[in-house]
Amino acid sequence: MKLLIVAVFIGLCLAQHNPNTKPNRTSIVHLFEWRWADIAEECERYLAPNGYGGVQISPPSESIVVTNPWHPWWQRYQPISYNLCSRSGTEEELKDMITRCNKVGLSIYVDAVINHMCGASGGEGNHSSCGSYFNANKEDFPSVPYSSWDFNDNKCRTDIENYSDVFQVRDCRLVSLLDLALEKDYVRGKVAEYMNKLIDMGVAGFRVDACKHMWPGDLHNVYGRLKSLNTTWFLPGTKPFIYQEVIDLGGESVKASEYFELGRVTEFKHSAKLGTVIRKWDKEKLSYLKSWGEGWGFMPSQKAMVFVDNHDNQRGHGAGGASVLTFWDSRLYKIASGLMLAHPYGVTIVMSSYRWDRHLVNGKDQNDWMGPPSNANGSTKAVPINPDSTCGDKWICEHRWRQIRNMVIFRNVVNGQPLSNWWDNGNNQIAFSRGSKGFIVINNDDCELNVMLDTGLPVGTYCDVISGDKSGDRCTGKRVSVGSDGRATFHISHTEEDPFIALHADSKL
Ligand SMILES: *[C@@H]1O[C@H](CO)[C@@H](O)[C@H](O)[C@H]1NC(C)=O
Ligand SMILES: *[C@@H]1O[C@H](CO)[C@@H](O)[C@H](O)[C@H]1NC(C)=O
Ligand SMILES: *[C@@H]1O[C@H](CO)[C@@H](O)[C@H](O)[C@H]1NC(C)=O
Ligand SMILES: *[C@@H]1O[C@H](CO)[C@@H](O)[C@H](O)[C@H]1NC(C)=O
Ligand SMILES: *[C@@H]1O[C@H](CO)[C@@H](O)[C@H](O)[C@H]1NC(C)=O
Repeated sequence: MKLLIVAVFIGLCLAQHNPNTKPNRTSIVHLFEWRWADIAEECERYLAPNGYGGVQISPPSESIVVTNPWHPWWQRYQPISYNLCSRSGTEEELKDMITRCNKVGLSIYVDAVINHMCGASGGEGNHSSCGSYFNANKEDFPSVPYSSWDFNDNKCRTDIENYSDVFQVRDCRLVSLLDLALEKDYVRGKVAEYMNKLIDMGVAGFRVDACKHMWPGDLHNVYGRLKSLNTTWFLPGTKPFIYQEVIDLGGESVKASEYFELGRVTEFKHSAKLGTVIRKWDKEKLSYLKSWGEGWGFMPSQKAMVFVDNHDNQRGHGAGGASVLTFWDSRLYKIASGLMLAHPYGVTIVMSSYRWDRHLVNGKDQNDWMGPPSNANGSTKAVPINPDSTCGDKWICEHRWRQIRNMVIFRNVVNGQPLSNWWDNGNNQIAFSRGSKGFIVINNDDCELNVMLDTGLPVGTYCDVISGDKSGDRCTGKRVSVGSDGRATFHISHTEEDPFIALHADSKL
């Protein structure tokens, strides 16, 4: 009996680290700036049939509307209230999307901006996504309502200047954003009310923005007020999944580890290092990835959320710098995505971006503010799907690239299997299996790969899911024969567009 109680208790504590995806669905896609109507369609027509587990959506709360610069993406990180009308659509459209995605087994994760409201220079008026009045000068947000009593002015009224000072990092204003006093019962209550409304609507969890700038004790209190998930879609007692944005590349006064107990945490080192290794900067090599994960000083796998790039660092914001790989470097990006999705470390998020007119001056993008494809009046454009299943109108849809989509399926198939059969050439050619369910070989050297390897796979002919697809008993890509001893011969030229091969149990012909 005692043992049972302990087990139940541990279960509850750990629940917020569990992504609440359907069984054997392992990856989340961030449909950055997509409209709710398009996300609903994408869940039904593409994400469900291709094994995706969930979608991270852009902030659904009412935000400021900025016209200089013209409707920047970051306006949605400046809340005006917790009304649910945003650039992505109305509350009705949000609700319809959550329902339709849940119906086809896709979980929705809300990007929750709860550290602050709009910037101190946000002005006065109704320039907000639902048209609500506010006055940033007076810290008056009547649609919540918040007043000047609800901000951290008694502790700090200036911007964060010294990141070595944890009190500044958590009590001062992040780039002038009005800093909410999350120590107040009233503010905690309003934030929890917002999140609970979304829970009732059927979301599975939250990406919590700017956690470094909030005290873990305050977050503990807010999370403690959250309801269990809606039982129409989830088992009774299921807690919302929580993953927290904490940028910690080492040497920070605020450590990612302070947030482990509360939920998962974004591991930015994974993004920065993966780019460095695949670009072969700093004398890094793929062979060093043998100890990838905790062995590289990353946080424990069961605490980590990982990504090749995210909406911040793909445009030079946040952290990670020039090494971060994005769709602009598509060849290396596909290799990085393949590696991340094949490797057991962390819970994976696939980024889905839009193109903007990059204008680099001394390494700094002057157009890093540019919002999604929009109409003349600033509203976000729909995502058109081309006959070849790519996306039009500057929407990149990395999640639809065959190599990335098929590696999401690979990750589902090998779920729970250990990394084994590691091989490397001491340089930039590596291979490993996931138990006896999947095998990947990568050639990032400047010479051919020609080698016979132990795959760990059962005997048979397999379809390589990077160069093509298995359809019925046919394969549109390369075929690989695995012998009864589990060995197979691989040839990968360094000049191929995709210099890697991936095989798995479901790609057996
Ligand atoms: C998950 O996948 C594994 C391996 O393919 C399989 O054995 C297991 O039955 C699957 N579980 C569910 C619930 O589908
Ligand atoms: C501005 O917002 C207030 C309350 O949020 C509302 O009563 C008023 O009608 C709005 N004004 C305009 C011009 O939309
Ligand atoms: C920044 O904060 C740290 C920690 O409080 C302190 O030691 C340091 O002197 C501060 N630096 C400046 C320039 O004020
Ligand atoms: C759970 O979701 C269903 C379907 O959308 C809805 O009818 C029900 O009211 C929700 N439950 C709560 C507690 O809001
Ligand atoms: C903005 O423009 C689009 C496309 O022209 C149109 O469909 C939409 O209704 C407009 N929205 C507003 C608020 O005027």
